[in-house]
Amino acid sequence: MKIAIAADHGGFRLKQEIVRYLEQQGYQYKDFGTYSEEAVDYPDYALPVARAVAAGQFDRGIICCGTGIGVCIVANKVPGVRAALCHDTFSARASREHNNANVLTLGERVIGTGLALQIVETWLNSQFAGGRHARRVDKITRIEQGCCS
Ligand code: RB5
Repeated sequence: MKIAIAADHGGFRLKQEIVRYLEQQGYQYKDFGTYSEEAVDYPDYALPVARAVAAGQFDRGIICCGTGIGVCIVANKVPGVRAALCHDTFSARASREHNNANVLTLGERVIGTGLALQIVETWLNSQFAGGRHARRVDKITRIEQGCCS
């Protein structure tokens, strides 16, 4: 599994912890920045990850900011991206099983590192359940394609 990861300054330290986790677990990943706590604009970091996942260059994306909200809004503007803001493991698992989420967003200022890493682990190891959920996710795709019924 290839993972794209990024953060703004508000999520920089959490991103570093997740990168360490990905390395320990042997995941293939690309770090799209930011690379310090200097203030930046979160759309500039969320968009490249979202586009890379939508283009199929990466299987999953993980994006951090202060709350996880801004980067989630940006990522979900990209057709083909289903970004989920998850601050608990139940939602992380459900976002994969029910929504086939391909981007996870997290807020460094909201949860601690220990929980965040559990969420990442749960999310990376959960699979889309398909079935009735596939029908619903297909409807999301049709909305992206301009079909609203
Ligand atoms: C940056 O201060 C903060 O606004 C950003 O990290 C994020 O929380 C936005 O949603």
